[in-house]
Amino acid sequence: MKTPLRVAVTGAAGQIGYSLLFRIASGEMLGKDQPVILQMLELPMEKAQAALRGVMMELEDCAFPLLAGMVGTDDPMVAFKDADVALLVGAMPRGPGMERKDLLLKNAEIFTVQGKALNAVASRDVKVLVVGNPANTNAYIAMKSAPDLPKKNFTAMLRLDHNRALSQLAAKAGVAVADIEKLVVWGNHSPTMYPDYRFATAKGESLKAKIGDEAWNREVFIPTVGKRGAAIIEARGLSSAASAANAAIDHIRDWVLGTDGKWVTMGIPSDGSYGIPQDVMFGYPVICRDGEYEIVQGLEIDEFSRERINKTLAELEEERAGVAHLLG
Ligand code: NAD
Ligand code: LMR
Repeated sequence: MKTPLRVAVTGAAGQIGYSLLFRIASGEMLGKDQPVILQMLELPMEKAQAALRGVMMELEDCAFPLLAGMVGTDDPMVAFKDADVALLVGAMPRGPGMERKDLLLKNAEIFTVQGKALNAVASRDVKVLVVGNPANTNAYIAMKSAPDLPKKNFTAMLRLDHNRALSQLAAKAGVAVADIEKLVVWGNHSPTMYPDYRFATAKGESLKAKIGDEAWNREVFIPTVGKRGAAIIEARGLSSAASAANAAIDHIRDWVLGTDGKWVTMGIPSDGSYGIPQDVMFGYPVICRDGEYEIVQGLEIDEFSRERINKTLAELEEERAGVAHLLG
């Protein structure tokens, strides 16, 4: 039996938490042979703590063979103690008519506090995924608040956008989602993101050639993927939860267990690739192996793509400027 891995989840009693924890405990994220200890953080208010106790009772009632332990707490120093994986979900979601960046100052402080706590007590190899919005800039804040941890440990969730793009493409091209490779969503988890299928293939066949409809790309595909979160809020009255939890599981599973040479999208601190300034938390195509991610290099950036990439970068730089005062 493997040694259990400690998985911290913040906002554990929220919507996404409820879709996420049971799948982690059943082995869907880290493998069916990997025991886990769940370390769950919620706000100190009695209502949040009571809801967390209820979730823990349900976890207990599942009798998951891989669930080797559970901690419920309102203290980030307890939740992140020796954490191998940290899913930073807890934050305010947007409602109808809001943009994700409207949450910036409301949620920014959470990620300063949690970045510092991760810095103090988490495993030095902790893999951090920020889900709480605006996810890229929150991940940047957490990374900057944790100077003793490697920057590469901090990532933001673009996987939901990647998965949304996969489904839209599969439907348009009449191919199976599972056959699509080499898709990427560049930039920010916001409507400025750039879902890019110029390199995508299905069973080796170019999807750009198969679809052959540039107007669909620009007028339907890019806006549909970019505004999908808002469309779900409009329809449900609540932001996406099960699909967000699913994307978080995909992101960590691929990071830990590898992608077998396939591309996925992760929001990661830039190393300067593709002209993105160092440390900007940017959606890139990556391949994961041996617990590390590596940016896919050498892709041609045409004029339209450069325009789109610059636009999403400008937004991230604006968000970064908006939180600079919090980072000292
Ligand atoms: P929710 O309101 O249902 O749950 C959030 C939970 O976090 C609540 O239980 C709340 O008590 C808790 N919380 C708030 N501040 C906390 C803190 N400082 N420490 C610990 N817990 C805290 O919201 P949700 O639907 O689960 O969404 C959570 C976040 O994820 C939102 O910001 C939402 O916009 C974001 N989100 C991101 C993506 C993405 O693709 N990146 C997708 C969906 C949702
Ligand atoms: C999403 O993309 O569904 C989430 O980021 C929630 C939101 O506010 O759009």
